[in-house]
Amino acid sequence: MTLDLTPDELLSTTRAVRRRLDLDRPVPRSLIEECVDLATQAPTGRNRQRWHFVVVTEPARRRAVADLFLSSLALASGQPLTQRDVWRMNYHPGSTERVFDGLRHLAANIHRVPAFVIPAVEGRTDHAPVTEQAGTWGSILPAVWSFMLAARARGLGTTWTTAQGPRERELARVLGVPYEKVMLAALIPLAYTIGTDFKPARRVPRDQVLHWDRW
Ligand SMILES: Cc1cc2nc3c(=O)[nH]c(=O)nc-3n(C[C@H](O)[C@H](O)[C@H](O)COP(=O)(O)O)c2cc1C
Repeated sequence: MTLDLTPDELLSTTRAVRRRLDLDRPVPRSLIEECVDLATQAPTGRNRQRWHFVVVTEPARRRAVADLFLSSLALASGQPLTQRDVWRMNYHPGSTERVFDGLRHLAANIHRVPAFVIPAVEGRTDHAPVTEQAGTWGSILPAVWSFMLAARARGLGTTWTTAQGPRERELARVLGVPYEKVMLAALIPLAYTIGTDFKPARRVPRDQVLHWDRW
């Protein structure tokens, strides 16, 4: 069963969901499988399809992933957000407090999130030229967004996080991922949403981002 959303509604209302995750409701495996099936319709360079999705629902492993999520956050210590954090994080003006409030809530509840999705791509580009980096990341990130759109269509909420970054090696070990050959692309908490009404967000106006014929 999917929500009654037009394509434009789906594209404009798939939000980063942190506060409205239903932490008491398990997510059926079949729904996640459907999302992966849709995600793998995304494009990849040379159609190589080097993508993987590690889904974690088993309690002990979920706890280990949640611990790593927390340890990768500056606010894991529970310290209030400082001006220095704001500066360091370089958030879009106007979003900082809202995003951080949501993130604090997510951090406080991360051990209750029913599922984590960790998308991964074969091949490491740590010191690779830009073309190779673009080709590799460009072959996993569209699929990740498709996964998130498919999840939203099914009443599920996601937040794209890069919490895997600072702890990638440890997370790979916990998940049995061969770190030398595979990059973890994101760490996505997944749960049903509380309510399904999400709104389009305010974004930078079109005339600041659209360039016609020249910059
Ligand atoms: C590359 C990337 C990294 C992100 N990292 C995090 C993160 O580590 N933690 C988090 O809570 N949200 C993270 N987000 C979610 C953004 O904060 C969110 O997409 C943005 O604030 C817009 O929110 P909205 O889509 O709900 O309007 C990330 C998003 C992207 C695309």
